[in-house]
Order: sequence, then C-alpha cells, then structure tokens
Amino acid sequence: MIRFSPGSRCSLSTVVWSLVGFLLLNHLYSLVNHNGGNGGDVRFRAGDNPVICDLKEVEQENIQIPPPRKRSPRTTKRHSRRATALIDEFLDENSQLRHVFFPGMKAAIGPTKSASNDSSYYHPGRIWLDTDGNPIQAHGGGILYDEKSRTYYWYGEYKDGPTYHAHKKAAARVDIIGVGCYSSKDLWSWKNEGIVLAAEETNEAHDLYKSNVLERPKVIYNEMTGNYVMWMHIDDVNYTKAAVGVAISDHPTGPFGYLYSKRPHGFDSRDMTIFKDDNGEAYLIYSSEVNSELHIGPLTGDYLDVTHVMRKILVGKRREAPAIFKYEGVYYMITSGCSGWAPNKALAHAAKSIMGPWETMGNPCSGGNKVFRLTTYFAQSTFVIPLPGLPGLFIFMADRWNPSDLRDSRYVWLPLIVGGLTDQTLDYNFGFPAWPRVTIYWHKKWRLPYGLSVLK
Ligand code: DGJ
Repeated sequence: MIRFSPGSRCSLSTVVWSLVGFLLLNHLYSLVNHNGGNGGDVRFRAGDNPVICDLKEVEQENIQIPPPRKRSPRTTKRHSRRATALIDEFLDENSQLRHVFFPGMKAAIGPTKSASNDSSYYHPGRIWLDTDGNPIQAHGGGILYDEKSRTYYWYGEYKDGPTYHAHKKAAARVDIIGVGCYSSKDLWSWKNEGIVLAAEETNEAHDLYKSNVLERPKVIYNEMTGNYVMWMHIDDVNYTKAAVGVAISDHPTGPFGYLYSKRPHGFDSRDMTIFKDDNGEAYLIYSSEVNSELHIGPLTGDYLDVTHVMRKILVGKRREAPAIFKYEGVYYMITSGCSGWAPNKALAHAAKSIMGPWETMGNPCSGGNKVFRLTTYFAQSTFVIPLPGLPGLFIFMADRWNPSDLRDSRYVWLPLIVGGLTDQTLDYNFGFPAWPRVTIYWHKKWRLPYGLSVLK
C-alpha cells in the first residue's frame, strides 16, 4: 500500500497541476494550430498556407464623414455619433458618400468588364455582372455545389423590379419576381440560368403571388430521391404569415415546382436557411417567436418536410440571417441582429452538436474600420461557402441591402477563416477559449488562392 507523507502530498498536487497545465497547453496548441483530420483530403490549411496568409492581412478603411447638413426626413431622427452618422449616410439615398457604399456601373466587375489581369478578383460592394454583362440578381442567396455537373449554382431573390412601400409603415419591398439561378465553375464568373421558380401572376391566393414575399431561397440535393430541394421564407406583404415554402426539381437549373408552405413545428418562421451535413442529414434553421430566438430541426429523409424534432437555440438573443457551416467536426453559424434592411453587427456561434447547445463567440469581422466591423461591412449574412481544397478557408456571403432601390443591393463576399484563438473565454474552460476563432477579413479587393485551381 502506498502511503503519502505531507511532503509527498505536495508532490502529488504538483503532479496533478502539471498534468492540468500540460492538458491546457496541449488544448491551446491544438486550437492555435487546429490540425485535425479532414477526410484525408488535406492539401492546404488556412493557418499554414502562405497564400492564405495574405487574406489574413488586416486592411483599413478611412471614410470621411461629410459635415452635418440637412438630411432627408427618414434619417433626421438619428444622433450624430460616428457609427450612426455613417449608417445614416449609408441609408440616405442623397448622401455624398453614396458612391462609397454603392459604386456606380463604371466600377462594375465581371467577366465582360474586367481586363484579364483583374479577373477573378472579388470587389465587395461593387456591381457584379454575369457572363452576359447584366447585374447578378441573386439576393439573400445560397450556393449549391452539384457533384454531377461539377458546377456551382447560386440561387437568390431576383429583385429586378421597382422598390416601393406597400403602405406607410411597411418595409421597402420589391414584388416577387422569382428565384434567380446562376452557374459557375470558379465562383467568380456567373452565367444566368434564368428564373428557376417564378412568381404567380394571376392567382392571388397563391403563396408566390407577386404581392407576397419570397426571401432567402436555399437548395440542397437529395441523393435518395434525385431531387434538388429548395426551401425559402414565404410571407405576406406585412410579414405576418411567417412560413417556409418548399419546391423541387430534378435538375439544378429547374424549373422548380412549388409544393406548399407551412409554419414549421407550428411556429412562426422568418429568416431561415437549410444545412446538409456530411452524413446526408439536413436541417432547417429559422428565426422564430417574432425573431427572439432560432429554432433548429432535422428534415425528413426526402428533405420535403421537417420532422417533429426541434430545439430552441440562442433564446432571447434576437438573431436572424443564419448561415451555417462545419469545420473539423464543429458546427459554426454567423447571424445578424434584427434591424430590417439596415445593417448591424454579426455574431459567430459554435456547437459540437448541430442541435445545440450553441455558444456565442463574438463579432467575427476584422479590418475595415470600427463602423465596418459594427455593421458587418454594411451587409447581412446569407451563406458560407465551403472550399474543399482549402480546409479552414470559406467564403462569407452577405447582402449589402439598398432599401431605396432593392434591385441595386450589392454582394459582399469575403474570406472567412477558422483558426487561432477567440476573444471570448468561458468560465468552465479555465479561461481558455473553447473554440478556434472565426474571422471574416475585410478586403477592398481579393481573390481565391492559386487562381481558383483548387476548385477544379
Ligand atoms: C431582414 C431580413 O434578413 C431580410 O431577409 C428581409 O426580411 C428584411 N429584414 C426585410 O426588412
């Protein structure tokens, strides 16, 4: 039998504390380096690839706010603090800074516009042209990578119509035109595949009747049925229907046949997204209880409905515009606050199980300036694109809404990198961060490493 003298008790506690210290350091090291397995397909890592290092450079923006002047009535109520002053300028269609947030056609990018040495550069906020030279119309969108055709498809709200207010208090709107679809091999040059789910012109009782709302369409492929399944936010002009709609097609470019709408699990549902996990299980995530919380639940095997299983997450946090992605077995989500078409601060969240609990890590935005970071670069999350050849690197997709002319809303695509330490520590984790950091880096101009060869 082993007996401990007072001296040996001391050395036992030293051993225990050394062990704890070792485990913590080991945990810290693995968070910084985050070199876990990724299905054996590891070519580069966001942390160690020198090309990706460029994307991690912090780029500053210096925007001079013009001196106070008579503002349009819609913005007079606001105060003159720098952040609100800049948001006022952003929302004011007559602002002298309009060109900073919404540069004109001269600055447009796209395959028909760019000199060859400038092609494949993303310029967040500029007009983005398709292969025919027309502005891309795919707002609140999402990307499907189709294994069969080895092609990316971008689905989004086709908003190329006049903006108006249905009545005095209603948010700015564009009548439903439909869901636009674009195809690409390189995620930069996009071909218009047309409207794959069109508005209903005559039947006023139909969900897709033009004076209703169709937002945030997302498409996933069901291996079992061979269907491309589209989920979307369906609403009436006042956003009181608060439902999801489902449509299917046997081809990624449609046409999609509209099936039905419902309130999932019996709850109101506004901003939403769907997420397909590596094991083929898919989930619906939606803002509910008047946007005060998010709900998450698995879809049925054919992806055409939700099951009865649902968890409430981020309760009381008032988040919307969810965009989910997964990296090395951990689920991540970017959300926005709720302020209509006006921009606000993004938050990143993480979870070991997609059904929760979800923890909030903080604002993922880096660079630009303070106001850029507090407004998600004057944009709102819609989707995060995984790049299989570049583990740890993702594209963050966001909408820079233009409430005075919604068709002229812009796309803000930026590199999102998982790796390094978070600012947020958790008490039960000995003051160490529980998750690797999620960072969205501001760049005026950037492109994917190695001229996109990693995508082929
Ligand atoms: C914010 C949402 O995220 C958008 O999709 C849209 O519904 C606007 N609100 C409408 O004000």
